[in-house]
Amino acid sequence: MHDRKNVRERLERLREEINLHAHLYYVKDDPLISDGEYDLLFQELLDLEARFPDLVTPDSPSRRVGGVPLSHFDTVEHRVPMLSLENAFSEEDFFEFEKRLHRFLNSSDPFSYVAEPKMDGLAVEIVYENGIMVLGSTRGDGSVGEDITQNLKTVQTIPLRLRPGTCPELFEVRGEVFISTEGFKALNEQRIKEGENLFANPRNAAAGSLRQLDSKITAQRPLEFFAYGVSDPDSFSCSTQADLLEVLQSLGLKVNTHVRICSDMEAAAAHFRYLLDLRPSLPYEIDGMVVKVNSFDIQKRLGAKARSPRWAIAGKFPASQGTTRLRSIEFQVGRTGAITPVAILEPVLIGGVTVSRATLHNEDEIKRKDLRIGDVVLVQRAGDVIPEVIKPVREKRTGREERIRMPESCPECGHPVTRAENEVAVRCTNPLCPAQRLRALIHYTGKTGMDIEGLGKKVMEQLVSCGLVSDISDIYRLQVSDLRDLEGWGEKSAEKAVKAIEAGKTTTLSRFLSALGIRYIGEISASLLEQRFGSLARIMQASEAEFLDVEGVGDQMAESLSSYFQDPSVQAMLRELGELGVRFEEPAADSSEKPLANMVFLFTGSLEKFSRSEAKARVKDLGGQVASSLSRKVTHVVCGNKPGSKRAKAQELGLMILDEGGFHNLLQM
Ligand code: IVH
Repeated sequence: MHDRKNVRERLERLREEINLHAHLYYVKDDPLISDGEYDLLFQELLDLEARFPDLVTPDSPSRRVGGVPLSHFDTVEHRVPMLSLENAFSEEDFFEFEKRLHRFLNSSDPFSYVAEPKMDGLAVEIVYENGIMVLGSTRGDGSVGEDITQNLKTVQTIPLRLRPGTCPELFEVRGEVFISTEGFKALNEQRIKEGENLFANPRNAAAGSLRQLDSKITAQRPLEFFAYGVSDPDSFSCSTQADLLEVLQSLGLKVNTHVRICSDMEAAAAHFRYLLDLRPSLPYEIDGMVVKVNSFDIQKRLGAKARSPRWAIAGKFPASQGTTRLRSIEFQVGRTGAITPVAILEPVLIGGVTVSRATLHNEDEIKRKDLRIGDVVLVQRAGDVIPEVIKPVREKRTGREERIRMPESCPECGHPVTRAENEVAVRCTNPLCPAQRLRALIHYTGKTGMDIEGLGKKVMEQLVSCGLVSDISDIYRLQVSDLRDLEGWGEKSAEKAVKAIEAGKTTTLSRFLSALGIRYIGEISASLLEQRFGSLARIMQASEAEFLDVEGVGDQMAESLSSYFQDPSVQAMLRELGELGVRFEEPAADSSEKPLANMVFLFTGSLEKFSRSEAKARVKDLGGQVASSLSRKVTHVVCGNKPGSKRAKAQELGLMILDEGGFHNLLQM
């Protein structure tokens, strides 16, 4: 019998050695021992662990694969949201971005950037506690992702245990999981042999692999990982992104080797051209370059907008293109009645994806591009976005091409269409147009709406066409007995759907508002409205001016909101939904505990230390609100240089008046 203490020590040694050699092999691409020698070490580990199962540790290299298949993925709330990036489509956009930074910081001092290849994979977060990997998750919607720990553990370039180094106790690293072009080809070749569907591109292959409930399948996929950031740079002793990337490397994480520190935007633009050149010869797909402000102090000052940080921008590479024939045009009626022409194409392979439809946006676009049916056209596909027709190839015209005419009546209901003066869209104005209703209902139950499971596009089409649902309230009247006998349904699926509908009755106001599909109102503006008004009743009573007073709500939105909520049939529907049990719970994040909660600021005159944008952003970060005109809701008026007449008015109203110094002190509270 082995002495347990000796076994424990031997296991510890083996793990250390295996981790080291795996790191040299996978991360450094610079192995020190042969594959055979490595296999021997691994086999010894497996044998010993099999004999002493109680000495197996969760971070043992043997634990990469294994565990029982899951029934579903749990959700994970990111401690710090995972933001996305704004796009730049040309070099000018990089310089515009820099100008915005200077304006925001109210200074034109130069600063350095880090330019990194933008990996075309999937963003994930990996959490380490005391150097041991404890959690891995997808980005999801940025706030909530899915727990894919088991799957991420199978990725050899993700260390289960970090290399010794300085690192906070709780360490959340972010990066991109991807599959190399080689790996993708090999994977698809294997799938041909096995008669499986092929993956369209490496990104889809990576996504499909991470979505496996059985991590043994994921383990067979050639997934890789590059780290590019952390949730909280403050928890590190680094002051720049460049230093951070060094530290990540020293902890055993793989970092892209084509990262450059750029002393100015000129240098970043040059790196962009360099990467564009390099792109075809890289062993993995990149779709652009990310430019990040190097200094964390400046990053902090810049902060973030709703979805993306102000301190970074993604320069996108031009999309891949191909030519094919334009066969015909289909006219689609959207949920607001807008009629969109869609190009029906002879199927063509572009960047590994078969394209047979492309958006043509609107009538003006068709005219501007002078497209005709029968034309050979240049088609572009950029990442995930819908393919686009760029232009006709005029040289290939035969003279038999036909002009494209917009329909004079709605292709779905026959109602005459109109085109408003200041609009590009041709619209069906029939409020009862079945196509519009259907689209609106699909939006309502869909992912960006109420997200009711089981009520996807196909099901909604079915429910509308068989007359069970014709408006939103009908959804909440559905019974198991209505559904179970429909084609494709049964007792179980009917029960499940009714349950999901019931559960979806309790929701948040912002989700509900964006589900309604009010023109110009999306998820972000819906949450601004929720924050400001707090209840549906108050929103229903608000005037157009009150809507306008919400920071982030412009003229079009305000007009659209007020005409929507003034519509008697909308009011009746909303009352009905209340009676059917639709309820709103408090929003998750409570800003009332923040120092500036319940305060509404109005800025007038120019500030010296801040730009207007930074000042506003700071107020919002601290839970306050910003008004754009003087009203009774304003609690604090901040007067800079030349404050104008607002100051006098504010005095009349007896409001708290601050100078820049006073405002600064308030922020420090
Ligand atoms: S930084 C807030 N760096 O691009 C910072 N992102 O639109 C956001 N991506 O979801 C991430 N390579 O999946 C960053 N070097 C890189 C990246 C990168 C690819 C992806 C990432 C993210 C998306 C942002």
